Amino acid sequence: FMEIHEIVIQKLGHVPIVKGDFHMLPKKVQKFLAKWVYTCKPRALYICDGSHAEAEEVTHKLIERGVLTKLKKYENCYLCRTDPADVARVESKTWIATDDKYETVPHVRQGVRGILGQWKHTKEMEEEVNSDLDGCMAGRTMYVIPFSMGPIGGPLSKIGVQLTDSNYVLLCMRIMTRVSADIWEVLGDNDFVRCVHSMGCPRPVQRKVVNHWPCNPDKIMIGHFPARREIVSFGSGYGGNSLLGKKCFALRIASVIARDEGWLAEHMLIMGLTNEKTGEEKFVCAAFPSACGKTNLAMIQPTIPGYKVRVVGDDIAWLRFDDKGVLRAINPENGFLGVLPGTNMKTNPNAMLSFQNISIFTNVAETADGGVFWEGMEDEIDKNIAITNWLGQPWKIGMPGNAAHPNSRFTCPASQCPIIHPKWEDPKGVPVSALIFGGRRPTGVPLVFESYSWQHGVMVGACVKSESTAAAEHTGKKIMHDPMAMRPFMGYNFGKYLQHWLDMEKPDRNMPKSFHVNWFRVDEHGKFLWPGFGDNVRVLDWVLRRCAGDESIAVKSPIGYLPKKGSIDLTGLGDIKWDELFSLPKHYWLDDMRESKLFLEDQVGTDFPQVIWETHAQEKRIEEQ
Ligand code: GDP
Ligand code: PGA
Ligand code: MN
Ligand code: MN
Repeated sequence: FMEIHEIVIQKLGHVPIVKGDFHMLPKKVQKFLAKWVYTCKPRALYICDGSHAEAEEVTHKLIERGVLTKLKKYENCYLCRTDPADVARVESKTWIATDDKYETVPHVRQGVRGILGQWKHTKEMEEEVNSDLDGCMAGRTMYVIPFSMGPIGGPLSKIGVQLTDSNYVLLCMRIMTRVSADIWEVLGDNDFVRCVHSMGCPRPVQRKVVNHWPCNPDKIMIGHFPARREIVSFGSGYGGNSLLGKKCFALRIASVIARDEGWLAEHMLIMGLTNEKTGEEKFVCAAFPSACGKTNLAMIQPTIPGYKVRVVGDDIAWLRFDDKGVLRAINPENGFLGVLPGTNMKTNPNAMLSFQNISIFTNVAETADGGVFWEGMEDEIDKNIAITNWLGQPWKIGMPGNAAHPNSRFTCPASQCPIIHPKWEDPKGVPVSALIFGGRRPTGVPLVFESYSWQHGVMVGACVKSESTAAAEHTGKKIMHDPMAMRPFMGYNFGKYLQHWLDMEKPDRNMPKSFHVNWFRVDEHGKFLWPGFGDNVRVLDWVLRRCAGDESIAVKSPIGYLPKKGSIDLTGLGDIKWDELFSLPKHYWLDDMRESKLFLEDQVGTDFPQVIWETHAQEKRIEEQ
């Protein structure tokens, strides 16, 4: 012990601690800190306590420096414009480091470039980390953020400590995770997930700083060391790259912990629907790729009577079977980091009402009266008001280009959502009746279908595809594979992950039913066939009636159970082209199934578990149709 303590003190050197008491921290945290202070060489150390005063101090600093603009139309709301080169997740710069390559990525077919995760050898990653982070915080303050994913001290919760040189990141972490000085006590001598983040812009700065947003886009690196539960993120301040509790911890590292402990960490929303006649409540989880409708579905405002909807989570679910065989889900997050374009009082009023207070708007346009604007808000602002776009230039509705960046986001506390579930912080989680997969599929894929079995559901999830979106660096609307909506977030070998899913099924467990939905099918003019948003409750209604065992509303098809014509409530919707919405063009599906099978054979190769036989069976069913 003495020895460790000596090293700690030596390594800290003369770095002043401007807030907090280093000696009160758990020993493992002291060691962790000492190591990174030694590497990053910050000017000062600031140990966060999650207090209100801390938020005020940091916010004030950010306003003074011009990073945040106070929005006078709201209370405690701020606008942030980043360097336009730092606006989305960077999947091409995201790595998982292990000693054994095949722990991280599958054995792909020879000559095929794997797309299910990027691997680096631990040694190589370490070298890169050490060279990039050497002196990376020079002239800057290192913030030490203790946080919990899940309610503090809960049996399913996990603790992390993030170091960062960005106070914007600190402010967002305070919203998105539970930051508190209580963490140190709950943690004690236990292990924690080690999170290190730097904007990669030490002083004196080498690169021109744009919008007071120091970053290092050319050298972005998001590295994960699952074996030692460590994350190192360099060069970017964008949420998915820098709020390490979210994608890096709650999905990539947690998926590895979940593999080892027998549960699932998934890219899923969690919502409760109470049947107003019977009073019975059912929970569903849904996995859609980034920017494909999770936040909107989780906060849905139903357009038909019959259900009271409440949100538990909008992006991540940790799922575990309890000792009664019931699948239970918690939302490990504390806030929402939601897409803004397309959000308005018609499409998602509950999101709009969630960010009227304590919220940060990143890369949106500003109105002259201290309000915000983005694509989709045209009918909700004063027509004559002057607008400044996300790049800081004067802007008018109807001008080419975007007022807000397509991946502009709000960050707000989940507790502010008017329909937040009273049990959203229940440490035991909520019981899950259905799992829903989906993506943006302009052609061929029906509004909804139900899988035949758990195993078939795993295949349906493994075959998820979607048009790419602005959430990551991919450009154009290319249809990409995004199995389980987890492609960018996998922490280990995808074949092993699919096997882990299959292994969830046990005779004494109450397996949820699984479904696939598609709100994005278009007609020959490119117009959506389904109104979406609040009307999606009509599909959830069908899903719940299936969960309740209604046999009369489904018909068998080669790809799963489809709704029997007329079994989805379309009251008040006008002209819905049912046949077009549910058609299964034979050639489309044959091609699609063969392509998906090939994709899985290429990409998962010899690691592919039995679900491959489901793809063969499905192909045969389509052929014989
Ligand atoms: P998330 O990133 O998966 O949480 O997706 P969001 O719920 O934030 O939605 C991403 C984008 O898709 C936003 O621009 C939404 O307005 C749009 N969107 C969400 N749900 C629907 C829907 O049912 N139909 C259509 N057409 N667009 C939707
Ligand atoms: P999203 O979350 O799924 O709400 O888009 C952020 C992301 O996945 O990058
Ligand atoms: Mn997401
Ligand atoms: Mn979302």
